Amino acid sequence: MNDIFKKCYEFTATKDIKAQGVYPYFKKVESAQGPEVIIGGRKIVVVCSNNYLGLADHPKVIEGSIKAAKKYGTSCTGSRFLNGTNDLHEKVEKKFAKFVGKETAILFTTGHHSNIGAISSLVGKNDIVITDKLDHASIIDGCRLALGEMVRFRHNDMADLERQLIKNKDASAIIVVDGVFSMEGDIANLPEIVKLAKRYGVRIFVDEAHSLGVLGERGTGTGEHFGLQSDVDVVMATASKSLASIGGFIASSNEVIEYIKHTARSLIFTASLPPACVGAIDVALDILQQEPERRETLWKNTRKMKEGFQSMGLDTGTSESPIIPITVGDDMKAFQMCRMLFDEGVFTSPVVSPAVPQAIIRTSYMATHTDAHLEFILDKFEKVSKQVGLIPGGNTRKSKTSAKKSWKFAFSRKDFADATKNWFKNLWSK
Ligand SMILES: Cc1ncc(COP(=O)(O)O)c(C=O)c1O
Repeated sequence: MNDIFKKCYEFTATKDIKAQGVYPYFKKVESAQGPEVIIGGRKIVVVCSNNYLGLADHPKVIEGSIKAAKKYGTSCTGSRFLNGTNDLHEKVEKKFAKFVGKETAILFTTGHHSNIGAISSLVGKNDIVITDKLDHASIIDGCRLALGEMVRFRHNDMADLERQLIKNKDASAIIVVDGVFSMEGDIANLPEIVKLAKRYGVRIFVDEAHSLGVLGERGTGTGEHFGLQSDVDVVMATASKSLASIGGFIASSNEVIEYIKHTARSLIFTASLPPACVGAIDVALDILQQEPERRETLWKNTRKMKEGFQSMGLDTGTSESPIIPITVGDDMKAFQMCRMLFDEGVFTSPVVSPAVPQAIIRTSYMATHTDAHLEFILDKFEKVSKQVGLIPGGNTRKSKTSAKKSWKFAFSRKDFADATKNWFKNLWSK
């Protein structure tokens, strides 16, 4: 027989990238997640987190977490289904459901668990799940686990969505979309989706992972942003971004949640969310509602960065949110730029094909980034973009620091593509 580990011994992509000094993953952060973190003893400005409201190091959120751990202990030691539900889980479920205007909600251990659990539970043998081609991997994983068929439409292309609806008009179906797309930062065309869903009699599921706390006057997400909250049948949100914790909510009608609660394998066959995490969510949900000025600052920062990048000639794609991708186009260059930015004190991450059609550096902003942070980030982006030839010319932002070093890489583009091709393809293929 062949050794099943053969593929592991032959997996050299990361070794090759590390040898070139551009490996960007699993960096060891030595501090709390704020607009700055400590890595290797050095302060770095963070532009790659999902800490939109800046609550991950908020003293009240930390206090909520400590209080919950003191009262309920460190673990629930079992599934929500059996011994792992406590009154704090139910308290935050009620608070979340009320906030997003649904009858009830259920809290899973992660956002990923909530998507795979809810989608595989709702999409039965003869049902259809209709997804946007750029939906998050956890949605796709849920569709793969579901017994029904997955049908896909081109990204935010409503004519293509309608074609798929016509093709499948006799099936019972649900459309599942990201509210804000996690790499592109654009917003689902919910008004058209709602019209089509009504016309063809299908349900709507919106993943508000990147829109909770960000979109809508009250921060409830994409539904509120478009004034269509009551037209969304199922609201999913993760607690790992604006809510500064971990966990995933699914909110809907009483009947739908009762069904999911008793059929979602990723809820039933895993241990429940630890008290410390639920305590943090409880407080973060209050702050989200009590301090709308955080959302205002987040948007002020977002506008400044978008204008700043665009005015230096960088392409920010279709972004309409605090996720602002910088189009690089070339995979290797994106890795190189992230390394150069890191050396300059800016923490970003490269995202390459097939996760996105062309390589980007995904940047994202927080309410707690100061003007000084944002100026620093723009300075460094301009400097590095010019060094690698992404934009032409001299430094117009008058950066106070000079480039540390001009990177020379032994890798050719082809070597890089060969080294990473199968890894990225298998990891990201959707
Ligand atoms: C759109 C989207 N949905 C779901 C998830 C999964 O959430 P979690 O990190 O809480 O598992 C993510 C996480 O990155 C996401 O971006």
